[in-house]
Order: sequence, then structure tokens, then C-alpha cells
Amino acid sequence: MKDEQLRELLADLTLDEKIGQLLQVAGGLYDTDALVTGMLDYFKITDEELALTGSVLSISGAEKLKKIQDECMAKQPHHIPQIFMLDIINGFETIYPVPLGQGATFHPESAEKLAEMAAKEGAAAGVHVTFSPMADLVRDARWGRVMESTGEDSYLNGLMSAAMVRGYQGENVADKGRLAACVKHFAAYGGAEGGRDYDTVELSERTLREEYLPAYKEAINAGAKLVMTSFNTLNHVPSSGNRWLMKQVLREEMGFDGMLISDYGAVGEMINHGFAKDEVQAGELALKAGVDMEMMSLCYAHGLKQLLEQGKITEEMIDESVYRVLVLKNELGLFENPYKDADAAEERALCLCDEHRQLAMEAAAESFVLLENKEQILPFTVGDGKKTALIGPFMESPKVYGSWSFPHDDDSIVTIRQGVEKNQSGEPVSYHRGSQFFSADKKLKNGEYLSYDALLAEELLADALAAAKEADRVVLCIGEHPQQTGEAASQTVLQVPEEQMKLLRKVQEVNDNIVTVVFTGRPLELKEIKELSKAVMVVWFPGTECGNAVSKVLWGAKEPGGRLPMSFPYSAAQMPCYYNRFRSGRPNNGTLNQAYVMGYIDQIDRMLYPFGYGKTYTEFSYSPVRITDSNGVETKEMRDKQVIKASVTLTNTGNRVGTETVQMYLADLFGSVVRPVKQLRGFRKVALQPGKSAEVTFEITEEMLRFYNIDMDFVSEPGDCRVYIGSDSMTDNFAEFELI
Ligand code: GLC
Repeated sequence: MKDEQLRELLADLTLDEKIGQLLQVAGGLYDTDALVTGMLDYFKITDEELALTGSVLSISGAEKLKKIQDECMAKQPHHIPQIFMLDIINGFETIYPVPLGQGATFHPESAEKLAEMAAKEGAAAGVHVTFSPMADLVRDARWGRVMESTGEDSYLNGLMSAAMVRGYQGENVADKGRLAACVKHFAAYGGAEGGRDYDTVELSERTLREEYLPAYKEAINAGAKLVMTSFNTLNHVPSSGNRWLMKQVLREEMGFDGMLISDYGAVGEMINHGFAKDEVQAGELALKAGVDMEMMSLCYAHGLKQLLEQGKITEEMIDESVYRVLVLKNELGLFENPYKDADAAEERALCLCDEHRQLAMEAAAESFVLLENKEQILPFTVGDGKKTALIGPFMESPKVYGSWSFPHDDDSIVTIRQGVEKNQSGEPVSYHRGSQFFSADKKLKNGEYLSYDALLAEELLADALAAAKEADRVVLCIGEHPQQTGEAASQTVLQVPEEQMKLLRKVQEVNDNIVTVVFTGRPLELKEIKELSKAVMVVWFPGTECGNAVSKVLWGAKEPGGRLPMSFPYSAAQMPCYYNRFRSGRPNNGTLNQAYVMGYIDQIDRMLYPFGYGKTYTEFSYSPVRITDSNGVETKEMRDKQVIKASVTLTNTGNRVGTETVQMYLADLFGSVVRPVKQLRGFRKVALQPGKSAEVTFEITEEMLRFYNIDMDFVSEPGDCRVYIGSDSMTDNFAEFELI
């Protein structure tokens, strides 16, 4: 539809129709099989209000959505189509690594391909918008939603979020197989105090702008069509009513002109926050902050007419939001084709097809982070005749996908056992569950109930130990349950459940050749697992192709390609943790018993495994860092904003081919405000044959050195800087230069 036609349509709408377009309701109101991603019982909508709603979330299926679209449009006086939105955050039916695992790949191009694949499946299933990417910076692993982020570094998050937007949207969201992307949760939801979901966020404007906002901005610059408000207050103001954040920062500074949708019930929750006295005021605050669509609360439906009559808002304000809703529907081509790509045959053909499975498997292997490999126990040698006991509750569990994934059938998931049986069919492997997930009955946050059976526990353990005694080695598959992560899953204990740790300890008593495969959606305390295992590999929640990826990596057909996107501490008590911290006036040198320095007296002030860390199956060496000017001449200066280059010679000093994730960090040693010890500003994945070398070069620009100075101007400042190039954030391989 042309814009003037949209304007004519808008002008022709009744006030009720306009207000209806600003409301999104859960699919459960249309279909009992719809996903439930929030509370429902509070939501009392009338049939008349339901008939005029503009959008439905959490429902999919080509035939189902076509039918709902027909029913809804028939009730709409102007037959305006619905827009269907869904949380497709790491795959629709073909499920790939959770976003934190995608962050571990340090491979934005992969994230883009995965998003494109998910969009094809979701679009064929009738979905129009995905509530992804989640661009929240995270520094506290107690927060269950770190699983949905790509980690603790805003530079990496920005690249990953922008890549996902490109993957979902392509050149034109109206094109076949494309979805509109909704970047979330604006803003700084990941900064929740104490890692407690929905708790307050207190940030200086400098930290907000320097660390928390950049990734949203990258997603918006990549063209994200929607932004979602966050549940949290930011410095005492709930995001959904925060005019400074939404009007000045999002609209004016970031130039976002798309549709702003609230999170689930977040407008109405401003009453709970004590920011609005009732629905009417909540609606007024949200509309004035520029929230276009209200998800699952009825403040607009119940209050906008009254606000108009009271002269507190104008119809033009309502029109502005309705127009953005209509524009989005128009950009998706819904006025011409309300079904867009919904096609049951296409949905069946695309979902879980071999090509998509292969993509998911590659991504899974690339997301795995090898943390320990003592005595080079990995990779196993095919045909070496060694007996392997595959043990643990994840050994044949299909629950190896994130808590925002909803496969129609768990049978589509390749378990570790299935992967090993398929890819290592000639290997002597035995399979043992070993333990239950937990040591007692457990009601999971999705309502699942896992009852504990003490007798079964004894049987499982006895069976596993008998096998471990006989085996040459053990692969132990343990970890947190996926339902321990995601929304409303904050935890104070960051450990593999005790029932599984008991299994590890018992197995280690009879066989110390243990490879521990850890399933997790967050950093965990891995000190004991490190001590009791020869190898430790974090696999996050790999998704559909879990078993194929794990078996191929264990037996060396694939290499573990991941590096940590979040710091793994010794203890949860160290939270929040992040590598790009400040030195303080009394820096800690990483040892205990130093007097009067920053840190703890009972824990070294370091991470067990730092941001960026991960091993390969080979070894790499780095030459010292060289800095050259644009003529290739060695220099120690960056003058007049000229671009300089920092290089190393990387060598594969091992005996196997391998891929190194070379990381480049910058440090500004002095400033008008204190500066982080280092900040990631580049990375490169370099594959090398054994014995081979390659020059790895990064361009350094003056823009990379900019920050919010003492006057809150975003500038660089002359002075001494360092460029680090190494294999993780603790690298001490640097060269100095002066910014002049
Ligand atoms: C949830 C989440 C948000 C999700 C939305 C719709 O509460 O906070 O990430 O996209 O509701 O399911």
C-alpha cells in the first residue's frame, strides 16, 4: 500500500479501531496450544476489544495462523490484518545454540546464517516478527537471562545483534522467508541488581552509554524494525514510561523510527512499580514515552479515551503510534497478502531439513568451549579400541535446547547417545544415565515436575560405576537443567546440581580419565569439575543437532570452536564479573594475602576462566605485537587520526590443524575519567595447519579510542595507549603507542 493510502486508512479509522491496533494479545486467547510466555489470568479482555486487537504473540503454524487471520480480519471493520509475533531466538523448529553459545562462536556471520534459517522456518509457519535479538549486556550470571544474551562485551554483542537483524530481515522484510526483528530489552535489563530478574537497574549515564546502549544501537543501525521496552526501572524510572530513554535516546539520538512495543504486561506493571496510580495513568505515561503497542496489558484499551476526554493526550498522539503499526504491517506486505509466507507444505519441507540441521550442527560445534584438556585426552582416536563409558542425565536426554525453544517433538533432537551411535558406530561405547537431574522432587519453572526416586538413584549409580570401572575412559554429560535458565530463573547457586556432582565424585574414584561435558545457560562454578576431570567442555544448550556435534568434537571430526563470551568465576560470590573492569587505586596482582588491595581475603581476585578463553586441539604461539603506520613503517604514534595497524605472527605449534580466535583489545592508560583495563575491539578466526604461520593484522582507528569524557563528550583524548593481541582477555601481549 502506498503511504497516502495508509494515511487515508488511518483517517478513516474509528477511535476504537485505532486503540485496538495498539494492543497485542497472547495467542492463548485464540488457541489453547499457543505458547505461554507470561501470566494470563489477570488479563480480562472483552470480545469487542479482542475483535479489534492489532497483533497476536506466541502462536505459529501456517494453517492455524491463516485461519486466525481470516477470523480476525472478518471482525475488523476495515479488515486490517493481524501481525503475528513470536520468540524465535535460537531457531524455530531446527534449534541451534542458545544466544550465549552463539556469542561463544565469535562468529557473527554464523549468527546471520542461523537467523536467516530461523526466519525461513518461522515465516513459513506464518510468523511475521521475531522478538530477537536480545542485545542486553550481561555481567551477572545469577540472572537466568544471560542465556539469551551473547555475553559481557558490548562490542561482541553489537556485532552479533546486528548480524541477527540482517539474518532475519534480509534486504526487505516483505521478501519471502524474512521476519521483522525486534531488538530487546530496551534498556539495560541485564543490569538487574543482584542478578534478580525484574529488579531495579542503577547505572551512571556514562556506563549506560558506554557499555549498555551500544549493542542496541548496532541492531537499530542494522535496520531492526521493532524495539521492545524492558521490565526494569532504569535509575528509578520504568522503561515503558521513560520519556528520556525512549524519546531522546532511542528516537532522537539513535534515530529509531520503527515500532516500539512494550514487554509482556510492562505498561500495566508501572502500577506495581509505583510509577502510575492506575491503568489510565500508566497508559498516559507509556503513550507519552512513545510506546506504540502494548503487549498483554489493557491500559490503552481502558484509558486512552478517558485521557482524550480529559485533554491529557491528543488524538494525534494516538495516530502517531497507530501509523507506526500500520507502516510495519505495510512493510511486511500484509495488506496485499495477510498470510505473507504461511505455507504448510513449505513449513514441513523447511523445518528440520538436512541443510538446516547441518547449519545447526556446525554452529553447535563452533560454540563448544574446551576449558581443560589434560594429557591431551581429547580428541579420542577413532579405532583405538579404548572402551568409553558415556554417563550422565544428559547422555540420552532431549532436553538440550534453551528454555525459549519449543520443538514440536523432542524426537527431532539428536541426543548424545544417538550421535555417538551414529557417528562412532565402530567404537566400544556403553551408555549409562548415572543419575537423575536433581536430588529431590523438583517443579521446573515451565510447570514440568521431576519426581526423585531414591531407589532408582542407587540403581543408576551402581550401573554407572560398574561401567566406569571397566572402561578406559568416561564421558560424563552433566549440567544445569535448561529450565534453570531464561526468564524468571535467577539463581544464587551457580553449580551443576549436587546429584550430578555426586555422580562425578563417585565415578572419579574408580576412573580418573574423565571428559566432562557441561550443559549450561550461564557461567557456573567449575573448580571441582576442573579438578576431577581430565577434560572439561562447555556445550551450553546446543539444540537439535546436539548429539552429532558432541560426538564429532569428541572424536576429532570437528574442533571445539568456542571462546567464553562471559567470565567464569571461582565463586558466584564474585558476581558481577566482567573483564573490562577498572584498575582501582589499589590494583590486585592476582595473588592472595596482599595487604590493602582491591579484592577479597578469601578468594583471588581473578576468574577461573576469563572472557575470551578457550582451548583448541592444537597449540598456537603469538609473536610480540608490532604497530605500523599506513606506510607499513613501525611506529609508536597515532597522529592526526591516522589509521595504524597492529599485527602479530600466529603459529600453529601443535600437531593438528586448528582455528584460533585471535582477539585484539585496546587500553587507554590515562583519561579525564578512569578507563577499563582493556576493551575488545577486534577478533579474527584463523585456521592453520600444524607448523604453519600467518600474519594477523588489525586496523586501529581514533574512533575506537573514544569514550564519554569528564564532560560527557564522546571523544578520544591524547595519551598513552596499548594494543593487546592474544587468545583471551588476560593476554599480556601488547605494544604501546601514543595518541597525538
Ligand atoms: C517475555 C520476555 C520477552 C519476550 C516476551 C514475549 O516476558 O521478557 O523477552 O519476548 O515476553 O514472549
